[in-house]
Amino acid sequence: MQYRVKLFLFFVFFISNHFLAQTYKNANADIELRISDLISKMTLEEKIGQMQQLNLWQMNSKVIDTVAKGKVGSFLNAGNKQDKIKLQKAAVEKSRLGIPLIFGRDVIHGYKTVLPIPLGQASTWNPDLVKRGTEISAREAAEDGIHWTFAPMIDIARDPRWGRIAESCGEDPYLASIIGSAMVKGFQGNDLKSANTIAACAKHYVGYGAAEGGKDYNTTLIPERELRDVYLKPFHAVVKAGVATLMSAFNDLNGVPTTGNSFTLKTILRDEWKFDGFVVSDWTSVDELIKHGFAKDGKEAALKAVNAGVNMEMVSENYTKYLKQLVESGKISTQWIDELVAGILRIKFKLGLFENPYIRNFEESTILCKTNKAIAKEIATESVVMLQNKNQTLPLKTKSLKSLAIIGPLADAPKDQLGTWTLDGKAKNTITPLTAITKEFGETIKIKYVKAMATCRSNDTKYFQNAIDAVKQSDAALLFLGEDANLSGETHSRAFINLPGNQEDLITELSKLGKPLVLIIMAGRPLTFGNITDKVNSILYAWHPGTMGGEAISDIIFGKTSPSGKLPVTFPRTVGQVPIYYNHKNTGRPPSANQLGRTLGTPENPEGFASYYLDVDFTPAYYFGYGESYSSFNYSDLTLSKKNIDFNDTLKVSVTVANTGKYKAKETIQLYIRDLYASVTRPVKELKRFKKVEFIPGETKKINFELTSEDLKFYDINMQYNTEPGDFELFVGSSANDKDLLKTNFKLTGSKEE
Ligand code: BGC
Repeated sequence: MQYRVKLFLFFVFFISNHFLAQTYKNANADIELRISDLISKMTLEEKIGQMQQLNLWQMNSKVIDTVAKGKVGSFLNAGNKQDKIKLQKAAVEKSRLGIPLIFGRDVIHGYKTVLPIPLGQASTWNPDLVKRGTEISAREAAEDGIHWTFAPMIDIARDPRWGRIAESCGEDPYLASIIGSAMVKGFQGNDLKSANTIAACAKHYVGYGAAEGGKDYNTTLIPERELRDVYLKPFHAVVKAGVATLMSAFNDLNGVPTTGNSFTLKTILRDEWKFDGFVVSDWTSVDELIKHGFAKDGKEAALKAVNAGVNMEMVSENYTKYLKQLVESGKISTQWIDELVAGILRIKFKLGLFENPYIRNFEESTILCKTNKAIAKEIATESVVMLQNKNQTLPLKTKSLKSLAIIGPLADAPKDQLGTWTLDGKAKNTITPLTAITKEFGETIKIKYVKAMATCRSNDTKYFQNAIDAVKQSDAALLFLGEDANLSGETHSRAFINLPGNQEDLITELSKLGKPLVLIIMAGRPLTFGNITDKVNSILYAWHPGTMGGEAISDIIFGKTSPSGKLPVTFPRTVGQVPIYYNHKNTGRPPSANQLGRTLGTPENPEGFASYYLDVDFTPAYYFGYGESYSSFNYSDLTLSKKNIDFNDTLKVSVTVANTGKYKAKETIQLYIRDLYASVTRPVKELKRFKKVEFIPGETKKINFELTSEDLKFYDINMQYNTEPGDFELFVGSSANDKDLLKTNFKLTGSKEE
């Protein structure tokens, strides 16, 4: 009997021990238990290994050995499917604990089916559509064994000189929060374990878009209130939306580089927002702490980045080289290392990598499939912003149009139309405007194509005559101009943001022929082109529209669909106005309407005493939120449920919008507020809600919004996130321009405690 009890106890001990020993491998165990079990089994070297990400352009045997020794936790750009399988095999089958690798890649705006650049996607003001775009991108990338993308980029960008504005969602914290969250939800779905989803990475944390002078990687100086009210807003939104990871940035923020900034990485991200995923540094940004003058050497760089809260080092290898010594000498606590490693493992567990480390089996490939192309086309279509349409030149009337000139270096530039950051998009899969238009109308309309300039940047005029001849012989001309892909993106900042090369001269020459000219600008940033707006009839701003851009633009030009894009960023008249953004402060001497009408150039009668330039109108060329339609919309009856609200009320706002034109079209109805006085000055307008709605001709709809005191919060004089009682203006309309808005007002009374 006694013997039997002993045997039973031994059996229980053996089983529970065995079970505990395997907890981290047990798919049914709680993730937190799995993490602590695994960490308890890891050596310091193995923990440091998880914190190192390497770039791998070229597969080699040395790297397999590094993986097998548990010295790397992640790769970016890890070759083709076979390479990834080999690497993962080494991690899972050869390393002591079998911890899978996480493969990252820049899937920025589409994978093989390339979507418009993010700034173009933000121009759709259609978060559901944007979400569908990231869903298909996630699935395409997952088919190639990618687990993790370095997107979305939600840096607030108020400076069009900055080349990375192309990758951003524009200048507004609310729009960037909504679009950025939609992107995160699209990439990640409801379950990171699903074969169709990948982890997202919100970047670049934080303030990177405020680079001085628009020069990439440059210093940023952002007071804490503005940091919190503007630059951090979209990051907080995506953390609430469940983003798995963040990327620390390159910039020096108020004297402390963001990759070594414990205020943003620890105090705000972890302590205030309770983020429990992980932060990866940007490419060698740990190393760059030395050049910033923030660390003496690699060892101090590793110390500062780790202590600030950067879980994983990208590319440079200071963690691998120095963390062991730093922990052993007590400069970094083991507990902190465990916490940082836990963040990485948490995402690996959530992705289901321990159960499914290898590329999943997909019954069918969706890469470049019909559905994906249709979604890419829909996004491209909604991203096009019509800025001008004199005499309703657009849409072109196919019945009367017998001949058409297609001019310009971007009419048939399959790589350029993909835009910046397209590692996997191929020119051969791109449908250019020339291809799309010729395919659809080549039989019925005589099309003459002349490139006219060797590149967008050419300064010679030797092909102009061919273009002139083609336009002369045609009923109308489409001019595809703007920037090639190479002029925007990382480190591609510009001091001049006009149409490059000889483009203005080309337009001027062609305008002399008296034919209807439609200018289609493809670009990665707002450009200044006030000199030529009078010389063309219509202007479509198409950004870099991606794989399906040609069909999307063709559909708009020929009226299959009405343009519905709205600007996510203010367009300056001249680069000298930069930074120019709609949600600026009023100042003590704001310019008034009677000071409008300044033309560019030194004035005859210099007149001062207001906050403006002598030599240019104080208004922008095009306002935030602006975008024309083939139809027209009338706004009326802006009504509030109450004129006085307290802190617990919901303010109901309604407005009547009617399609008074002849086309079925979508309109984005925008709601702004202005807090008229407060313990600190507030912007002249802040976007608080928007809705994109489709209307058939003649249709009238009542559009409803709701606001609460939560929507009126800001960082007050004591740096508390509060709503203050007082008077507010509320605007609803079609852009941030006063003349496009109906206006009313309300009062908030009482206090939060009541
Ligand atoms: C960029 C990041 C990008 C990373 C990895 C860096 O140069 O700033 O946005 O995700 O490279 O490719």
